[in-house]
Amino acid sequence: MRIFATGGTGAIGRHAVPALVAAGHDVRALARSEPKARQLTAQGAHPVRVSIFDRDGLATAITACDAVINLASSLPSTASFIRPSAWDECTRIRTEGSAAVVDATLRAGVPRLVQESVAMIYRDNGVRWIDEASPVDHYPIATGNHAAEANAHRFAAAGGVGVVLRFGLFYGLGADHSEQIVALRRRHIGTTIGAQNAYQSSIYLPDAAAAVVAALSAPSGVYNVVDDQPVTRREHAAALAAATGARPWVPGPGRLARLFGDRTTSLTRSLRVSNARFRNATGWQPRFPSVREGYLDMTAQIEASRRRG
Ligand SMILES: NC(=O)c1ccc[n+]([C@@H]2O[C@H](COP(=O)([O-])OP(=O)(O)OC[C@H]3O[C@@H](n4cnc5c(N)ncnc54)[C@H](OP(=O)(O)O)[C@@H]3O)[C@@H](O)[C@H]2O)c1
Repeated sequence: MRIFATGGTGAIGRHAVPALVAAGHDVRALARSEPKARQLTAQGAHPVRVSIFDRDGLATAITACDAVINLASSLPSTASFIRPSAWDECTRIRTEGSAAVVDATLRAGVPRLVQESVAMIYRDNGVRWIDEASPVDHYPIATGNHAAEANAHRFAAAGGVGVVLRFGLFYGLGADHSEQIVALRRRHIGTTIGAQNAYQSSIYLPDAAAAVVAALSAPSGVYNVVDDQPVTRREHAAALAAATGARPWVPGPGRLARLFGDRTTSLTRSLRVSNARFRNATGWQPRFPSVREGYLDMTAQIEASRRRG
């Protein structure tokens, strides 16, 4: 297939682009700078310099494609995560950017759209499993995710195939927070926030990339892209400690997280999310069933990348 991707240079994109190329697809990808254009070329994709807010430019770039994949976002850095205004650009990309991408995709007559979203928009469901029919929450920093999903549904309502992927918390080589975690191992310390028996649903970046490829055969709809075995925060901390060689991580009190409202409750709520629908629809399955195995591989990959320089 001929694909146009946005966000192809980001945390998920830098794994998804080579996975799409390896699967035999002809990939064009949005590049915002020369270094990023070179990165895409080195991965076997064709860089396209166009703004995500430019409908005319996008429609030209997308012409004659079989699918458009929108992975663009701009999450705040770990240090600025709790500052509300730090989310403005991300919300704009997911709201205005996804609208422009859908308008251009419709105008170019491309039949399929894949839109990224997050599993963190579900409501806290304690120990009970969450599927795609479970209720979602409309807290302020999720505004962009809901808008992006609505644009994908608008695309499907207009006759296209609109696929929404709700990714779990991602981790792996190229994700800033993962690189920071591995760097911290030398200090033998780390923290987790929220109730220790609350569930967390994650996805390793190479498995997220494989899901992006698999989404090219999925029927219209919303799909959770998470690993097979969500773990509690206590288990998560133990998996991180085992993988990084650090002492078990220090749990931050759940009450502390509440001080920062929705900006941290999106990370502390209990989310035991099922991937059954996506597995059944596409045959995709994560290579790493849980963070217990994934964190070991992540640490090895990040250390190897550091040694290579
Ligand atoms: N999602 C999670 O689960 C999670 C959890 C905790 C922490 N984080 C942290 O958040 C960081 C950022 O994550 P992210 O999901 O936003 O991915 P990202 O790695 O920053 O990638 C975002 C992608 O969107 C593109 N983009 C940004 N602004 C754009 C614009 N105005 N127009 C078009 N494209 C644009 C970027 O292009 P450029 O390459 O040109 O910038 C990039 O390709 C990660 O490194 C991670 O450490 C994420």
